Amino acid sequence: MPHPKEKRVIFDWRDVQDIGTLQGYRQKGGYGAWLKLLKEKQPAEVIDLTKTSGLRGRGGAGFPTGMKWSFVPNNLGKPKYLCVNCDESEPGTCKDREIVETLPHQLLEGIGIACYAVGIQKAFIYIRGEMLEGYLSLKRALDEAYGAGLFGKNIEKSGFELDIVIHRGAGAYICGEESALLSSLEGERGFPRLKPPFPAVSGLYACPTVINNVETLATLPAIFRMGVEEYAKLGTDKSKGTRLVSLSGHVNKPGNYEIELGKVNFQQLIEDFGGGIRNGKKCKAVIPGGASAPWLVPEQHYEVTLDFEAIAAVKSMAGSGAIVVMDEDTCAVAAALNLVEFFHEESCGKCSPCREGTQWLVQILHRMEHGQGRAEDLKLLEDVCESILGKTFCPLGDSATVPVSSSLKYFKAEYEHHIKEKCCMVGPGAKKAAGV
Ligand SMILES: Cc1cc2nc3c(=O)[nH]c(=O)nc-3n(C[C@H](O)[C@H](O)[C@H](O)COP(=O)(O)O)c2cc1C
Ligand code: SF4
Repeated sequence: MPHPKEKRVIFDWRDVQDIGTLQGYRQKGGYGAWLKLLKEKQPAEVIDLTKTSGLRGRGGAGFPTGMKWSFVPNNLGKPKYLCVNCDESEPGTCKDREIVETLPHQLLEGIGIACYAVGIQKAFIYIRGEMLEGYLSLKRALDEAYGAGLFGKNIEKSGFELDIVIHRGAGAYICGEESALLSSLEGERGFPRLKPPFPAVSGLYACPTVINNVETLATLPAIFRMGVEEYAKLGTDKSKGTRLVSLSGHVNKPGNYEIELGKVNFQQLIEDFGGGIRNGKKCKAVIPGGASAPWLVPEQHYEVTLDFEAIAAVKSMAGSGAIVVMDEDTCAVAAALNLVEFFHEESCGKCSPCREGTQWLVQILHRMEHGQGRAEDLKLLEDVCESILGKTFCPLGDSATVPVSSSLKYFKAEYEHHIKEKCCMVGPGAKKAAGV
């Protein structure tokens, strides 16, 4: 059952029985939006309608989807490709997994709409290797759809053809970065590429390529079903519509929720949707958009609404929609260490500020957390962050510094306590070290 305060557009059919099967999806009218566009609209009109809807990418950067499609040139004489980004490895993010597991046909219909709009005849779904259930669900759905003539040549006698290939990745976070995804799909090591050229002009196999997130694409059928104008009425002026947020951490009811952009603030999300903080504790900090997003704190940010602009205005980002909640017992140093270890592990090693810098950050935080911090370590942490920031090949390097700068900004006293007292200032770690 949907949460009473949810606004369901993408998840409108989520709880419909058998919605994961072709029969169940078609019974509800699924594939209708796409087939209608194929018959009644020119591709350029579909791009314009998508622009009107105000849909922005849900993969992290929030780039306007219709505009991205309009950058793809039609006159290069090369094939064009769509790459569906289903790598979803940002810690805390689990919405794309839910889409591929429960609504695979909705994603396939969205791919159909995007490909028709841009004139693409081949799409690749790059799915994270660990998502076995999602892969099987997608594969079943694709086989059924091909069997019904929804993909392949001359779809429903429209003259339009589209083939879809599912490709399983090997679980590298960096392969979610669009240019690394292209390298991996081509069979190369998953290294990011220099931009420009941008994928719209020279992407997969040096051909014009659109890369879109799973949620972005799965939203399209719902938008065209309800009408682009109606969709554009939802949300705020610049953040239109709804989005999925993955709420996790120390809340009573974690999960994926669909919210209208700009209509829910962090306090409402945590208390109304998340059922409050576990064990009656207080909220200490919130990561608002995946591990790469600067932390927010309830005293200053509880009333910030969940939309791209409001979160950017407080110098953080809505990112992938993963909202991680930390309670008052969370040690800020331990939390920063945990996140930096992730970035270090996932650094592809191509450039030295990220490869070496993340290793340094882990070492320093590790010794602080384990009672061996030195007086000069705070300065050293800041220096290492400084030598990474803005000096790396892709955004992962900068992201690795965020947990350090955020925790230092709001919880510096905990770092000082770790260095001086050799233990945590809060939570069970404090008691253990004090011998209580
Ligand atoms: C390190 C890194 C990891 C990323 N991981 C993902 C991911 O797992 N899924 C995703 O859709 N986008 C991810 N992105 C963003 C993509 O590069 C790209 O912007 C996105 O897939 C575009 O789709 P959209 O326009 O529909 O948002 C990542 C970016 C970076 C820098
Ligand atoms: S910043 Fe890190 S992940 Fe990105 S290219 Fe450099 S080493 Fe690889």
